[in-house]
Amino acid sequence: MAVRRLAPEHLQPKEFSFTAENLAWAQNEIKKYPPGRQQSAVISLLWRAQEQCGGWLPQKAIEAVAAMLGMAKIRVLEVATFYTMFLLSPVGRKAHIQVCGTTPCVLRGAEELFKVCHHRIHEEPFHVSADGDFSWEEVECLGACVNAPMVLIGHDTFEDLTAETFEKVIDGYAKGSPPKPGPQIDRHFSAPVGGPTTLTDPSLYAKKPSAGEPQQPAVADDDAKKPGAAANVHEAPIPKPPAADSSRA
Ligand code: FES
Repeated sequence: MAVRRLAPEHLQPKEFSFTAENLAWAQNEIKKYPPGRQQSAVISLLWRAQEQCGGWLPQKAIEAVAAMLGMAKIRVLEVATFYTMFLLSPVGRKAHIQVCGTTPCVLRGAEELFKVCHHRIHEEPFHVSADGDFSWEEVECLGACVNAPMVLIGHDTFEDLTAETFEKVIDGYAKGSPPKPGPQIDRHFSAPVGGPTTLTDPSLYAKKPSAGEPQQPAVADDDAKKPGAAANVHEAPIPKPPAADSSRA
């Protein structure tokens, strides 16, 4: 992980204060902790400050949170510089793109996504594009490996990407109309591509006998395929558990 430092002084705003709405939220957040433990709200307050500042955390915001929580500035600075969720330099106005660079995503083509970042945004991560609209960084696994490769933008993930579909995602943000989050191919969430591949036998969903009708006997899987076999193997009687071993009592 790269050394994490505050943005240079010429990029830092001269002051910071929470908006009235965020201030009320922050005070409520602090009240969740018992007296003397208000410092526990430090991460949630820093996160709200980052959201208010357009996606990054200026030094003045860190200092304001320290003052609210009665903490030494250096303690809050330690938190802000430790957790990579806090971005310490200005990010793109329209989107800061987090590209997963962990093994499953790389095996499924994340290198192509990085090339798109290089030519569409900037050669280097954490640099804002020439028009100021976009920035990017490489991150570790974001927990959507089954839909690799993927990116996270704000609160949304875009999955099953190719270079072409990733460019479309960026185009969407540029125009102010990003595509629907989730898989960018014909796939329902993380279900198999092309539709279901298991539990497709219609007999599994046959009408259950109504009350009073005799239950179908249990049949083995092979027998279920024979003509006249039971309609639903799940309706087999449940075997009774073995009697308890009294010698262990
Ligand atoms: S490896 Fe990319 S989301 Fe897990």
